[in-house]
Amino acid sequence: MKTITQLKTLRNILCPLKRTGKIIGLVPTMGALHEGHCSLMRKARRECDIVIISIFVNPKQFGPQEDFDRYPRQKKKDELLAQKENVDIIWHPSVDQIYKKDFLTYVEVERLSGLLCGKSRPGHFKGVTTIVTKLLNETTPDILYLGQKDGQQALILKKMITDLDFNVKVKICPTIREKDGLALSSRNAFLTEQQRRESPILYQALQHAKKDILSGERNAQRIIKKIRAMITKTTSCTIDYVVCVDKETLSPLKNIVGSVMIALAVKFGNVRLIDNILLKV
Ligand code: PAF
Repeated sequence: MKTITQLKTLRNILCPLKRTGKIIGLVPTMGALHEGHCSLMRKARRECDIVIISIFVNPKQFGPQEDFDRYPRQKKKDELLAQKENVDIIWHPSVDQIYKKDFLTYVEVERLSGLLCGKSRPGHFKGVTTIVTKLLNETTPDILYLGQKDGQQALILKKMITDLDFNVKVKICPTIREKDGLALSSRNAFLTEQQRRESPILYQALQHAKKDILSGERNAQRIIKKIRAMITKTTSCTIDYVVCVDKETLSPLKNIVGSVMIALAVKFGNVRLIDNILLKV
């Protein structure tokens, strides 16, 4: 496994591999790797000749009051994990290399980027789509691996890839959870013991909603109200949103029919957690 920090070196390695038809898989990450990332790396390993992971804490997807500075950085630990998963290349550029002083170009998926997380984190998805465009150009993958935990991000990146004709297939992989249901996230490490104890209610509330829907409930407002009540009753977190939306358009649903995403975002103190489930009704 090689850790590469210079674009020229990366291109010198990848060009001949592309020419000989090797299938390249990319798992984009911001580091602080956990089992969720490992599941993506493993899938990429099974399906590709060359597995690349990128590690880059992207300043452009954090708001001024957000956790860019304290986002966990653990290069050595990440390298060991990636090595264990048989990754071929870690693409680990510096911020100065990615965003030169005169950087002026952004990619934005309209409408979808302003909804849900985009409402409370203005500019976040513009930062994500811009960096992922750069990562795709730099690593030239055939397959891009993303996690369903960041459901809105996955949808926006799929739309960008379709709209801009990127020659890459997108695979969205299931959310990996702790035994008690909490979706894995690099931010979970910031939860206090008390918050960590309270956090499984997020998934439990989503599972309750699923059960209600499978038993015939179709009223989205009632479902949302019940999820909110379960969360506020048992935790100290503040709810950013709970929504029942169409999985492809993110439009809010009045009646629960079709391909549905039930998604939520909450804050435990400064720690923002998101989760979602998909349903076909
Ligand atoms: O999901 C993430 O870790 C990031 O948003 C991504 C896709 C690596 C872009 O910085």
